[in-house]
Amino acid sequence: MNSPSGPSTGRVAVVCGVGGYVPPGIVTNEDLTARLDTSDEWIRTRTGIAARHVIDPGTATSDLAVEAGRRALKSAGDSQADAVVLATTTPDQPCPATAPHVAAQLGLTGAAAFDVSAVCSGFLYGLAAASGLIASGTAERVLLIAADAFTTIIDPDERTTAVIFADGAGAVVLRAGTADEPGAVGRIVLGSDGEHHDLIEVPAGGSRQRSSGIPPEPGEEFFRMRGRDTYRMAVERMTAVSQQAVESAGWHMEDVDRLAAHQANARILTAVGDRLGIPDERRLSNIERVGNTGAASIPLLLAQAAEEGRLTAGHRVLLTAFGGGLAWGSTALVWPDVAA
Ligand code: UT7
Repeated sequence: MNSPSGPSTGRVAVVCGVGGYVPPGIVTNEDLTARLDTSDEWIRTRTGIAARHVIDPGTATSDLAVEAGRRALKSAGDSQADAVVLATTTPDQPCPATAPHVAAQLGLTGAAAFDVSAVCSGFLYGLAAASGLIASGTAERVLLIAADAFTTIIDPDERTTAVIFADGAGAVVLRAGTADEPGAVGRIVLGSDGEHHDLIEVPAGGSRQRSSGIPPEPGEEFFRMRGRDTYRMAVERMTAVSQQAVESAGWHMEDVDRLAAHQANARILTAVGDRLGIPDERRLSNIERVGNTGAASIPLLLAQAAEEGRLTAGHRVLLTAFGGGLAWGSTALVWPDVAA
């Protein structure tokens, strides 16, 4: 994990737009109990989820990303960006990156465009990449989108993952500004632990399996998660990295007005909030209605909370995520006055 340093000075990235999108299709717990050995009670008590949004056949991650990106650009009041960064676990294809296609769909052909792969921490890794583009002078305005179509990689018959993971997208627009402005992105604390890369994985479809020349077993192309181990590490890591982010922002935990954590599981959110000492009313959550949307989780939460007035200008927000890789991240920022 990177070591603490002072706050950024000079040119920094500033959030100036936000947008979220979920596809219209909804799968309720009742829909799942009709075909899986599960119950509404198990799903609600173990995960906090009541419903989730899913794409229709023929819809891809880029379709979700374009809609969220369009909304974020509208919120920023300017349809231009000179870079598009897309954080996703489910690119449209293994090659090329999905971001150039998304950029083109948004009328941004010519902009720098690339994907970031950090599973559920993708938004925070993407935020670090996007902020770096601005701080270095490589870009003036960056559209950062996080989008996942998890239902394209989960096994619909595997009850543990099928009840949790869902589809959605969220986006922010970042412009060049200064560290003292609301919305300024300061230090982002990031970390990883590849010793545990097999806790969350899609075993087949990459170079390892392909170069072996052995066709994948049925099911190897599906997403797998060792839930209980992941749960334990998620609580530990999100708590620790959040403490580091708050400290490096020069805040105390009591200063945090809103906790915007990756919506992995309601019980994880409760455990992390309790350990950090952030009271329930300061914790943002939408997992009950959208499930776990992977990389999209944090920006979708920010967009919906801003739209509903639960997140307003001046709130000191703590963002934190954990997921496959393993990879995690956290940062703290003052929410700007943006249209939601
Ligand atoms: O987003 C990236 C990071 N992801 C996370 O952080 C997710 C972390 N993990 C979790 O959220 C939880 O571990 C799960 C929700 C995945 C599972 O909850 P759990 O309380 O850890 O359950 P478990 O895996 O220990 O399973 C307990 C029992 C098992 O039955 P037995 O062995 O006790 O008889 C499972 O087979 O619950 C069973 N089970 C289910 N029962 C009904 C597992 N899934 C289901 C289900 N419905 N959908």
